[in-house]
Amino acid sequence: MEYVILNGEFIDRSKAKVDMEDRGYQFGDGVYEVIRVYNGKMFTAEEHLERLLESGKKIELNISYPVKKLKHLLEQMIVKNKLELGIVYMQFTRGTSPRNHAYPGEDVLPAFTAYTRETTRPEENMKKGVKALLVEDIRWLRCDIKSLNLLGNIMAKQKAAQSGCFEAIQHRGETVTEGSSSNIAIVRNGKICTHPATNLILNGITRRKINELCQANEIALEETAFTIEDLKQADEVFLSSTSAEITPITEIEGKPIGAGTPGPLTRKLQDLFETEIERQCGSLQV
Ligand code: PDD
Repeated sequence: MEYVILNGEFIDRSKAKVDMEDRGYQFGDGVYEVIRVYNGKMFTAEEHLERLLESGKKIELNISYPVKKLKHLLEQMIVKNKLELGIVYMQFTRGTSPRNHAYPGEDVLPAFTAYTRETTRPEENMKKGVKALLVEDIRWLRCDIKSLNLLGNIMAKQKAAQSGCFEAIQHRGETVTEGSSSNIAIVRNGKICTHPATNLILNGITRRKINELCQANEIALEETAFTIEDLKQADEVFLSSTSAEITPITEIEGKPIGAGTPGPLTRKLQDLFETEIERQCGSLQV
């Protein structure tokens, strides 16, 4: 049996039902998180759960669970489902009430759902690098919120998929913002550059971890916006996300980045990141 969480209770996945008028389903009115699980342990769980509560606050959705309680529930689900390597997905919506744009009354409770999924690490992509294309960033101006509304993101990703690319790199005018489901960084003259954590990007947990690792290892990193031209001329480009970890981008719009192979600084960061995963979750060797 596979367990899921529905409003704080563990139930059989096949019995979990959500109402047709759940506001997440009708309006995308909710927030979510994805956490990686290695060796049955969540990586950077607190950071993800704190961001979930922050996202909730930003849309005036009251998530009444403290981080500790949420973490405990997710840990229990991981054990019940015997998950070793994969992800945990969770979301809170503004609950179920007759369709009306304005928020429902306080008597309507948020709906909390979560499940686990087995997934391997994207070894091949991390080793060889991936292709990307460029798309105009058509999303709203609160990309800092991890909202269930992902139309702009999924339309961008679909364009990438149709062209045989792994990621769509979004830009507002000349300024590169982020990927459809990842943060983007470039390397030039030994220095990493990534968009600052403003309302125009999601402040990725992987991105934050990279920033910390750079500080601790005296690797130069600057949080400043860069242009499409900077991107194309970069020595190295990489993307970061919970599921893709640190993945080199070796080709953009059919043109190679640098030598067209993963660069040395990207490799170094991958090693540092792996060491950090192992510190928190144990050995990654199988
Ligand atoms: N992606 N930007 C966007 C638009 C994202 O959807 C994501 C995450 C990120 C990276 O954030 P983090 O490092 O916290 O995962 C940036 C989903 C969750 C994923 O691919 O797993």
